[in-house]
Amino acid sequence: MARISIPDAAREIAGLEPIRAFLAPHGITYERWDTGAPRVPPDAEPQDILAAYAPEIDALRKRGGYVAADVINVTPETPNLQVMLNKFNQEHTHADDEVRFILKGRGVFHIHPRGGQVFAIYVEAGDLLNVPAGTQHWFDVCPERTIRAIRLFKDPAGWTPAYVAGGVHAGYAPICLGPAYLPTEALRKH
Ligand SMILES: [Fe+2]
Repeated sequence: MARISIPDAAREIAGLEPIRAFLAPHGITYERWDTGAPRVPPDAEPQDILAAYAPEIDALRKRGGYVAADVINVTPETPNLQVMLNKFNQEHTHADDEVRFILKGRGVFHIHPRGGQVFAIYVEAGDLLNVPAGTQHWFDVCPERTIRAIRLFKDPAGWTPAYVAGGVHAGYAPICLGPAYLPTEALRKH
């Protein structure tokens, strides 16, 4: 289950409905596709994963106009992993929506609303997040450096990050639950 942290307000939000209500004004959609055990092993072949989640994927396609879906797999063994992670851990926007259903692993999206307070969305297996095009954000994996996710897109070129001048990412550390979890206040870098 996702969790939201607002470091500058020392505030945290948990629970499906509170999270959905908090994100809605930002145009961000949050859903839980699996409430119990995953319906397919998270390491299954991509085509089997896409088939297992076809009803939800089709519903999103109809709502959002997405034309394709694939499965991204990040592990500590991924070649040039840090180079890849560094592309997305700085504040940026995309011309396309960033739609991710997490199959395995954990990560943190930071969102920087224009004129508003930065907030972090911690995601793990079973979470679907749709961050609209143009939203200022950045993404970090948790310390295990593992994430597997379904991606939906209209145009693969839309994922190219457009970096935000004066991005504020350096002031925030990703908050990961579990053994690496630290209270929000301890994670402000300044
Ligand atoms: Fe992004």
